[in-house]
Amino acid sequence: MNRHYAYPNGYSAYPRGGGGTFSISPHKFQPRSQPALRRRRQLLVKLLVVGGISLFILFLIIPSWRPFLIPTISLGLFTSSSDDLSLETVRYYDLSETQGTEMGWHREERVLLCTPLRDAQSHLPMFFSHLRNLTYPHHLIDLAFLVSDSKDDTLNLLSEMLTELQGDSDPKMPYGEISVIEKDFGQKVKQDVESRHGFAAQAGRRKLMAQARNWLLSATLRPTHSWVYWRDADVQTAPFTILEDLMRHDKDVIVPNVWRPLPDWLGGEQPYDLNSWQESDTALALADTLDEDAVIVEGYAEYATWRPHLAYLRDPYGDADTEMEIDGVGGVSILSKAKVFRSGVHFPAFSFEKHAETEGFGKMARRMDYSVVGLPHYTIWHLYEPSVDDIRHMEEMELEKKQREQEEKEEEARQQLIKDTFNNPEEQWAKDGAVVKKMDETEEAREREIQRAKDKENGIERDLEEESRIEKEKERKLAVEREKKRAEEKEKLKEEEKEREKKEKEREKKEKEREKKEKEKRKKMSENNNKKPEKKNTNERAVQRPQRQKGADEGPAAKAEKEEIKKEEIKKEEIKKEEVKKKTTPQAEFEMD
Ligand SMILES: *[C@@H]1O[C@H](CO)[C@@H](O)[C@H](O)[C@H]1NC(C)=O
Repeated sequence: MNRHYAYPNGYSAYPRGGGGTFSISPHKFQPRSQPALRRRRQLLVKLLVVGGISLFILFLIIPSWRPFLIPTISLGLFTSSSDDLSLETVRYYDLSETQGTEMGWHREERVLLCTPLRDAQSHLPMFFSHLRNLTYPHHLIDLAFLVSDSKDDTLNLLSEMLTELQGDSDPKMPYGEISVIEKDFGQKVKQDVESRHGFAAQAGRRKLMAQARNWLLSATLRPTHSWVYWRDADVQTAPFTILEDLMRHDKDVIVPNVWRPLPDWLGGEQPYDLNSWQESDTALALADTLDEDAVIVEGYAEYATWRPHLAYLRDPYGDADTEMEIDGVGGVSILSKAKVFRSGVHFPAFSFEKHAETEGFGKMARRMDYSVVGLPHYTIWHLYEPSVDDIRHMEEMELEKKQREQEEKEEEARQQLIKDTFNNPEEQWAKDGAVVKKMDETEEAREREIQRAKDKENGIERDLEEESRIEKEKERKLAVEREKKRAEEKEKLKEEEKEREKKEKEREKKEKEREKKEKEKRKKMSENNNKKPEKKNTNERAVQRPQRQKGADEGPAAKAEKEEIKKEEIKKEEIKKEEVKKKTTPQAEFEMD
């Protein structure tokens, strides 16, 4: 049916259909586009349905996407209800809660325990034994490991031991979050004791170590951590309560004293970590003469800094809580408040005030007015790894021991032989003598009988007294004979004994000479190590140091007392230095990992 709109004047806006050339119906005008529109709309609906379904599936599969998906799905219609949900992606931290306090374990303060590992496979069982023994609540400790430049099976063994630790049936055993980071830094120095501790390798090695520490920390430090504890894998003995013990001091950075046990022939024990020290004028003067990029490393003849070292101040009977302000810190065991790192203090992988790595870290922390403290009488023990020299010497000693054992055995056998042929013989002789005597007696008796018969024939009466006298004389002669024999035997024995003693003396002399040589060698090294002209300066500086402290909360009496303690410590240190110098190698080997 044709429709048209006619204007009042009868004029149609559209030509009528039919015969009319312009008969285009209005309804035919729109529908032309209708199928396209419908198709488009259908497509849109389909897309929405498919999209909705897939979102719904994703919603089911990946829960963590929900917060993102909900606003999308609800098209912003339920913004008020989705507010709480979207908060899940926004975390708020109040860092004033993680400042670190002296009773951290009561306040559930989290600790990040960082351990750099390099070819440390052999140390891992010991390290995990320490971890199991730590008394600080394990669930409050997150572990962070950096495995770098390792050629052994460190990584695999680490995974194994971590799996075992975290799967322990004792609910107190498993630790918090664990991060294992693998990254090589191109440490080319061999990890054996000689190469690791050689002077030439130090600066470069320390800079790479510094990088490793920074990588490890920056990748694993979370806003939840109040403390960072750096602990090497090759610590042999340490109190199980070490975290609480160090924390109690409430210092920004704190380290224990680090020694190492030695075999008896090397003196039994020795200071190990020489990187914890107080600054000295000598060292400052030395630093001024050095190139901008130079790195001073402690414990080497090349740099005689004459600094008071924490290690030398140790008194085995001293108060474990005694504190000493230090400038450089060693890395074997450092407890630090996390805020120190948060504020930008780090392990310089470049020369910072002529120091790098942990020593640079200590200096930097002090530069930022943090407290840096060492405990001279609170000691942990580093593993003793014999140097090539030590190994050689021990082999020599082993050989000598074997020789001595062999000699002793021979000696014993000889003594036994002597006993058999000397002591017993006495009995034997007695027996023999008796037999002989008896034989003699019968012989004599017969002779006497014959004689008497003859005498009788000759009419001579023998005096009985005379007879017994002769008999006695004979006995005496026999005894003298026996005595002579015995004396001869004794002489022979003495001769042999002398021979043996001579040998023994020669051996002792040899031993003494060797020891003397060893001592001279060490003395020479230690002289090199300490060619410092005026000791006085060091003392003065060390005594002055308390003035540099932030001692606002201390009364003058306490200060004076502290100064007194310090003076005494310095004195003790001098004595100790002498002692240690005398009995041990000046350690190139002190240097840390
Ligand atoms: C851990 O404690 C056990 C039991 O007291 C002890 O045998 C072991 O030596 C300790 N481990 C370390 C590394 O001190």
